[in-house]
Amino acid sequence: MTSPVILAVDTSDFDTARAWINATRESIDIYKLGLEFYLTFGSQGIETIAKESGASIFLDLKLHDIPNTVKKAAGVVDPLHPRFLTVHATGGTAMVAAAAQAVTQTSITAVTVLTSLSDGDLAQLGYSSGALATAANLARVATDAGATSIVCSPYEIEAIRAVVPATVQIITPGVRPADESVSDDQVRTMTPAQAIALGANFLVIGRPITSRWSQGATAMAARAAQIVDSIKG
Ligand code: C5P
Repeated sequence: MTSPVILAVDTSDFDTARAWINATRESIDIYKLGLEFYLTFGSQGIETIAKESGASIFLDLKLHDIPNTVKKAAGVVDPLHPRFLTVHATGGTAMVAAAAQAVTQTSITAVTVLTSLSDGDLAQLGYSSGALATAANLARVATDAGATSIVCSPYEIEAIRAVVPATVQIITPGVRPADESVSDDQVRTMTPAQAIALGANFLVIGRPITSRWSQGATAMAARAAQIVDSIKG
């Protein structure tokens, strides 16, 4: 069975990325590489990581442009066969559909409302319904257009589950193990087990695992395994 934990490989150092993946490979099958990594190492860097590790890639490029441009961009990364490729749901139906048409084996993954935006920020931008209702609406529109996965806050899982097909994969960051003492910029968090119980399929977790790198590969491997075990109950 595929591990429910996706490791956020938030580093632009290639050897560090490789070492984190090697250290955690026994408990993790999918690694999230983002714009910073892609802009630094390009498609070749992604391909190298995927080939060396045999793992799947969550390519977090958050594409957002006119449909034709997004279709071309998604087509460029399609040969990498990332398991997930993110686009902004706010690009609209035609843009999400264009991305979906451009890929062959990839789940187009719609990002709803960035959790960095407050209800006040959203109102300022003209979204008057608040983050929860806006995220659920964007998830419905994006999945109608061909997105097969959604990224959302753990606090939006239930509202989104209620309006998208059961086959849609829900992926959530903002997850923190109960025993994690390090405080960082994630504010409204849930434990991995809570998020899965609410209906998430995958959890994107970074620092609770990667911060253990300073204690060595074995400590990092143990932390990843412990988090995966905590979900099994
Ligand atoms: O280190 P941490 O577990 O907070 O990492 C979470 C990952 O998920 C980071 O790569 C972060 O950019 C990403 N993310 C997030 N919140 C969102 C969307 C993505 O933390 N709403």
